[in-house]
Amino acid sequence: MTWLDSENHYGLVSRVIHWLMAAVLVFMLLSEWWMEALEHIAGLSGMAIHQGTGLALAALLGVRLVWRLINRGRVQPTQSWKLAARIGHLALYGLMLIIPLTGFLAAWGSGHGVDFFGLHLISPGPEMEWLEDGGEEAHEFTTTLFWFVIAGHVAAALFHQHVKGDGTLRKMA
Ligand code: HEM
Ligand code: HEM
Repeated sequence: MTWLDSENHYGLVSRVIHWLMAAVLVFMLLSEWWMEALEHIAGLSGMAIHQGTGLALAALLGVRLVWRLINRGRVQPTQSWKLAARIGHLALYGLMLIIPLTGFLAAWGSGHGVDFFGLHLISPGPEMEWLEDGGEEAHEFTTTLFWFVIAGHVAAALFHQHVKGDGTLRKMA
């Protein structure tokens, strides 16, 4: 078991970050559901948890990208469909960046301020409707798009593993 990636296997750090982020991202994508439940059961708004967790994911993305650069013997994409894999992974990384950013802008525009688990990043201030509306729309569009990109990613991983039989899933297992 190695920490660093090798040519045909992601190392421990990359695998832990991949699966941890995947699980928390799905939890975040289901926010409407659990925030409503929290409100209904305990009368609490889940927005503080939503913002804090979303910002933590953005920070983890930074760690992930730095770690990716550090790994010199990086995993090579499967030869067939190499370009599709590159575009797909780029879309996943892009959305993991744009989604928290648009959420941040929506929260900023709302005037309620932005918090990271009690740490005030942006203090409450005047509502900026153009920023709130633009941020919300972009946040909603990108989170919806994310479901489709993730579905494509999972389908591609399963196709490579089970139809092409090239052991793609084992690289991340
Ligand atoms: C929210 C969910 C997910 C996100 C955001 C995500 C993101 C990513 C990203 C960005 C990479 C590229 C890694 C790199 O080269 O740096 C990757 C690789 C991979 N992911 Fe996911 N992933 C998710 C869920 C899953 C699931 C559920 C599976 C299993 C079916 C999976 C299987 C894989 C495999 C096998 C690779 C390696 C592909 C290769 O290098 O050829 N991922 N994932
Ligand atoms: C990867 C991280 C994130 C994911 C997956 C995510 C996902 C979601 C989802 C699914 C919703 C429900 C409605 C919609 O689609 O607009 C939502 C709403 C919202 N999110 Fe996020 N979010 C993330 C990060 C953040 C961050 C970092 C902030 C702020 C600092 C934020 C602020 C908001 C706000 C203000 C709303 C309510 C918008 C509205 O009322 O339409 N989000 N988010």
